[in-house]
Amino acid sequence: MSKIKKIVLAYSGGLDTSVILNWLKEKYGAEVVTYTANLGQGKPLDSIENKAKSTGASKVYIEDLRKEFCLNYVLPALKAGAVYEGKYPLATALARPLITKGLIETAKKEKAEAIAHGCSGKGNDQVRFEVTAKALNPEITILAPLREWELNSREEEVRYAKEHNIPLEIKEESPYSIDRNLWGVSIECGPLEDIGQEPPPESYQITSSPQDAPKEPTYINITFREGVPCRFNGKEYKLVSLIEKLNLVGGKNAVGRIDLIENRLIGIKSREIYEAPAAVILHYAHRELERLTLDKDTFRFKEIVAQKYSELVYDGLWHSPLRQALDGFVNQTQRFVSGEVKLKLYKGNCTVVGRKSPYSLYEKKLATYSEEDTFDQKASQGFIHIWSLPLRTISKTQRREEKK
Ligand code: ARG
Repeated sequence: MSKIKKIVLAYSGGLDTSVILNWLKEKYGAEVVTYTANLGQGKPLDSIENKAKSTGASKVYIEDLRKEFCLNYVLPALKAGAVYEGKYPLATALARPLITKGLIETAKKEKAEAIAHGCSGKGNDQVRFEVTAKALNPEITILAPLREWELNSREEEVRYAKEHNIPLEIKEESPYSIDRNLWGVSIECGPLEDIGQEPPPESYQITSSPQDAPKEPTYINITFREGVPCRFNGKEYKLVSLIEKLNLVGGKNAVGRIDLIENRLIGIKSREIYEAPAAVILHYAHRELERLTLDKDTFRFKEIVAQKYSELVYDGLWHSPLRQALDGFVNQTQRFVSGEVKLKLYKGNCTVVGRKSPYSLYEKKLATYSEEDTFDQKASQGFIHIWSLPLRTISKTQRREEKK
C-alpha cells in the first residue's frame, strides 16, 4: 500500500473525533484535514475551526448542507414513508450518505489518499459511511481508528486526550452518545442500555415530557403540494424552516419521543431513544393525505415500498439501484398528494382532526348513511356473487375432499 500523506477526517469536535485527529497524525505521520457538515446539530459550529486547528488539523472544512439534506435525503424518505421497523424516522441513517459525499469530494479537492471516520466496529454507521464511500470512489482508502486502536474505553480516550493536550468540553463526561440533525436526535448508551428502565428525564434533548407539556392542545395545519410539505398554518415555508418550526411546536407538546429495540445491520439488537417531532408529524400528516388521495391498490402497495425503502436506508444502501428505482415509483404516486391536514398536538399525541384536498377520492354522497346516499346497494349482490366465485368453487371441490 502506498504511503498515506493526507487524510480527510469526518469531524464533530467531540471526544472520539478529537482523539482520532491526534492519533492519525501520530500513527501515519500524515496531514489531517477535518470535514464537518452542518445538518442542524443545534449547536454553533464556529468553535469547531479553532478546536480542530488547536488539535492539529492542517485545514478545516465546514459546510452548511441543511438545504441539501432536507431536499435530497429527508424529502425522498418522507414521500416514501420510510420509517424503520415502524418507529425510527432514520435521521442518523439519512445523514450518513450526505456526510460521506462531502468527505469524498473534499478528499478529491485536497488530493488526499484516505478518509477517516469515528464510528465503532459494532454499529450501523461504519457500514453506511464505508459502503457510500466505496460507491462514490471504489479506490479510496478508509480508516476507522475506533475499530483498531488500543484505546478500549471512554476513560482511556479521556486520558489520551489529557496527555496530548487535546481540548475537551465538560459535556464529554455525559454518559450518552448523541447524534442530532434536523430530522431528529438519536440517543444511546449509559442508563439507556438497561432496557427495563424508563429513559431518565435528562436523556431527552429537544422535547418536553407529556407532564410538562401545555395543558391545552395546539392545533396546526400542514399543506402539501405533490407530497412536499410547503405551508404551516397557511404560511409558505422552505423545507428547512418548516422542519425547524415543527421541531419546536411538536417538541413543546412532547410529540416525537420514540423508545426502540432495533435490529442493527451487524446482527445485534440495541436500545436507542429518538426525538423527532417534525419527522413524526410530517410522516403522519403525509400518510393521512395519502389515505385521502391515493387509490386503494397504490396505497397498499406503497406500504410495502415504504418498508423496503426504510430497510435500504438503514442498511447503508442509499446508492443502490433499487432505492433509486423506488424513488421513481414514489414520485409517480405523489402527483395528487396535495392538500391540507389539520392536526391536534396534545401531551405527546399527534392526531388528525381534519383533511381536505382538491383531489380527494372521498365522496360523501357514496359514503353517507343519510338520505343523500347515491350508492346502489342492490348492485352489491351481484358483486358479491362474482367476488366469491373462486371460494364457492373451492368449497364444492377441495373442501369436500378435506372433510373426508
Ligand atoms: N441507531 C441509529 C441508527 O443506526 C442511530 C445510531 C447513532 N446513534 C448515536 N446515538 N450516536 O441509525
